[in-house]
Amino acid sequence: MSHIFILNDVVSAITNLDSDIEIQSAFFDPPYNIGFRYSDKVNDNLPEHQYHQLISDTFAALKPRLSANGSAFLVHYPEACARLLPIIEAQGFRLQQWISWVYPSNIGHTKKRFTTAHRALLWLVHDDCKQPLFYPERDTQPYRNPNDPRVKTQIAKGKTGTHAYDWWNINMVKAGSREHNGWYNQIPYALIKRMVLTTSEVGDYVLDGFAGSCSMWPVANDYGRNAILIDLDPESEKKFQEFEGEEEE
Ligand SMILES: C[S@@+](CC[C@H](N)C(=O)[O-])C[C@H]1O[C@@H](n2cnc3c(N)ncnc32)[C@H](O)[C@@H]1O
Repeated sequence: MSHIFILNDVVSAITNLDSDIEIQSAFFDPPYNIGFRYSDKVNDNLPEHQYHQLISDTFAALKPRLSANGSAFLVHYPEACARLLPIIEAQGFRLQQWISWVYPSNIGHTKKRFTTAHRALLWLVHDDCKQPLFYPERDTQPYRNPNDPRVKTQIAKGKTGTHAYDWWNINMVKAGSREHNGWYNQIPYALIKRMVLTTSEVGDYVLDGFAGSCSMWPVANDYGRNAILIDLDPESEKKFQEFEGEEEE
């Protein structure tokens, strides 16, 4: 198993990957273009057409590097996903499923609309892919009625739960969360684990194009995947080095 960090723009980094690397599962958690203050390398207040170009170019770069039965996931606000989906489809992808990541939230209340407490997770595959690699039984959700006789029979056979719904109830990583590693907007381990485990095999390459805290590293490491982590921010590379250093100790 080997993990790589590439300090570069996501489009250049994917385009220049070694030719023998094939990505089985890719994850994109881009800046949301809402004026968030990232490093001085990132402008999170782009004109909309430039922002859409970044997402379009990212998927265009991924297209020849994603395995024929591979998967790519984009996480964003649902309204943004609705606008981005046709842009991604134009690069030769199709929507396998629209997943909702729901989380309880005590912030963002407004008198103008309901409180935003979920994000969309677009699961994308090649437009000619009939069925991507998919193992739902590898990351199940607990049975709701474990005392039901039929469920008891399943549990006795060793089953741990049912296939997950297309809405994933996973807490956000907050400053007080046990897994918080000091980074802003860190994606939870449980969410990355579900994507990686169900859509790739041990030994495959998984990629995070906007790696941030390198939250994909521990999942890839725990489950025997090779991680390719990309980010423009040198602080992200430091997080990678911390993970790699801890592993060596
Ligand atoms: C929303 S954060 C990702 C957080 C990450 N998923 C995590 O769990 O910690 C977006 C990241 O994208 C990086 N970024 C922004 N534009 C980029 C680009 N063009 N190429 C590569 N990385 C970029 C930022 O530096 C930031 O770390």
